[in-house]
Amino acid sequence: MKVLLKGIGVLLVLIVALGLFIQLSYQQDFSEEYPVNEDLKVETTAARIALGEYLAYGPAHCATCHVPVDKIAAVEAGEKVAMIGGGELTLPPGILRAPNLTPDPETGIGNLSDEELYRMLRYNIMHDGTTTIELMPFSTMSDEDIYSIIAYLRSQEPVNHEVAASDWTFLGKALKRFVIKPIDDGKSEHPPIEKGASIAYGKYLAESVANCRGCHTERDLKSGAFTGPEYAGGLHFDPSPETQGWAFNTPNLTPCEKTGIMKGWSKEAFVQRIRNGRTQAGSPMPWGTFSRMDSTDLEALWLFLSSLEPIENSIEQIAFAPES
Ligand code: HEC
Ligand code: HEC
Repeated sequence: MKVLLKGIGVLLVLIVALGLFIQLSYQQDFSEEYPVNEDLKVETTAARIALGEYLAYGPAHCATCHVPVDKIAAVEAGEKVAMIGGGELTLPPGILRAPNLTPDPETGIGNLSDEELYRMLRYNIMHDGTTTIELMPFSTMSDEDIYSIIAYLRSQEPVNHEVAASDWTFLGKALKRFVIKPIDDGKSEHPPIEKGASIAYGKYLAESVANCRGCHTERDLKSGAFTGPEYAGGLHFDPSPETQGWAFNTPNLTPCEKTGIMKGWSKEAFVQRIRNGRTQAGSPMPWGTFSRMDSTDLEALWLFLSSLEPIENSIEQIAFAPES
């Protein structure tokens, strides 16, 4: 009996110690492995600003998250809402709040260097050196596209708008301490990709810019690892305030004649479907910004998705209504 009690006591002490350890050390600073390269200075040109704006309000969909919660409907409706931050994502690891991306020095990115912004988009490392959940999967984006986004962010009107920091749950802190690492594709160069109606450009959009692959593939929600065949669907979204209480399984985008969501679609039908935007309330897919993609990008996406190997993966139900 005594031994058992002692054992339980030791176990409790260990659990408390681990909890304290996580509490005190979850904000890991990765700046030593990923130092800020102070030499990077993004040259601002009119062409870069225009491209950056197109990406942020189109395929790269920054505007779906970096606007206040009550402005998301306006973004969906095609309005160009300033990216003053405030969008929230309620997930098991915590409530994540998207910061103000306008150049306000106090509450926005005014005091962040080009390299700090670059490091965020390339390696998913915040300006304080900590990592975050993979919400911004731009680690394989071309340098030129990242520079263009930075040039556009700098060109915006500064807006003073304070956004509270993200609130991590204990699970989130433990993940931050032990699981979430900077995202690094290991390549030292990220050359420009020629924009055009080609399979190669469609693949680039789907993987490096618009996150079609990230959402339309089954994955382990804790580590972010892909656990199912790419583009075959099946990623699950739990109900949350952002989904208006709906739950989702993403559909299969591969050209499977039996189980693909786009079976029987023509190129025109695909382009029209994306242009029409949201039909399903609460869907996490950034329909509003995607509906602003130009015809070259939509055609490239269609060519790429049609070129995929058909994968039979039946997603029986896609949207689950809130239980009342
Ligand atoms: C799915 C939602 C989402 C999308 C899309 C998104 N972001 Fe974010 N972003 C966030 C959240 C949430 C945070 C804060 C994460 C945290 O607190 O750990 C963040 C953080 C950042 C930061 C870090 C600022 C700092 O303090 O270091 C930058 C810069 C940023 N985002 C830029 C962008 C840009 C540019 C785009 C588009 C190319 C983009 N984001 C797309 C949700 C998003
Ligand atoms: C944040 C997650 C997310 C991203 C990113 C995303 N999707 Fe989706 N997608 C969904 C979900 C969830 C659904 C099911 C609900 C709906 O139709 O909105 C869906 C549905 C679809 C549908 C079926 C629409 C219909 O009418 O049945 C198509 C086609 C599609 N996505 C294509 C794409 C393409 C192409 C991309 C990249 C450009 C993409 N998705 C990016 C989550 C996502």
